[in-house]
Amino acid sequence: MSNRPRECLFRWISQPTDVNWGGKVHGGMVMKWMDQAAYACAVGWCGGYAVTASVGGMSFLKPIHIGDVVEVRARVVLTGTSSLHIAVDVDAVEPISQRRTRTTRCVMVFVALDADGKPTPVPCWTPRTEADKRMADYADKLRDMRTDLDHELYAAAE
Ligand SMILES: CC(C)(COP(=O)(O)OP(=O)(O)OC[C@H]1O[C@@H](n2cnc3c(N)ncnc32)[C@H](O)[C@@H]1OP(=O)(O)O)[C@@H](O)C(=O)NCCC(=O)NCCS
Repeated sequence: MSNRPRECLFRWISQPTDVNWGGKVHGGMVMKWMDQAAYACAVGWCGGYAVTASVGGMSFLKPIHIGDVVEVRARVVLTGTSSLHIAVDVDAVEPISQRRTRTTRCVMVFVALDADGKPTPVPCWTPRTEADKRMADYADKLRDMRTDLDHELYAAAE
């Protein structure tokens, strides 16, 4: 298994420029932050370039308020041959009370590319704890669901 960092944490304060029409942080902004954290995690793990291939299990659980400390945590939960499955969790921490709320979560799939832009093998991640095994199972199920749904869609389109 790789001795590269498996996890990446971004932390900052949300700003008025991040706001949507309802006064909370824009969902598209949250997705951008998640993609950036997951990208840093993916390339840190594989030691080369990688692209976002798909996003699954995206849930916006609670809003993020302007002035909250935003924490985006990305970690490798499953690897294939050239794909890395990264679980991304976003917490909002109210800075005075320190009250923490889980606001958003998803699993992003990245594919490592070589210098010619072709998929290339990634170091294997082996889940060890029960929590790691549950997350790997979850990512695996998302992968199966996506594959099945893709087949259904293509079959329906033909
Ligand atoms: C992702 C991409 C490189 C895959 O290329 P491809 O030729 O289809 O690759 P392959 O069929 O050989 O599959 C390679 C791996 O990618 C995975 N993969 C391919 N498409 C995928 C998708 N839509 N979702 C999740 N994984 C995917 C495969 O399961 C395989 O994983 P494995 O090696 O662990 O078994 C290609 O579709 C691409 O370049 N997409 C655009 C990426 C992009 O522009 N992202 C946004 C900006 S970063």
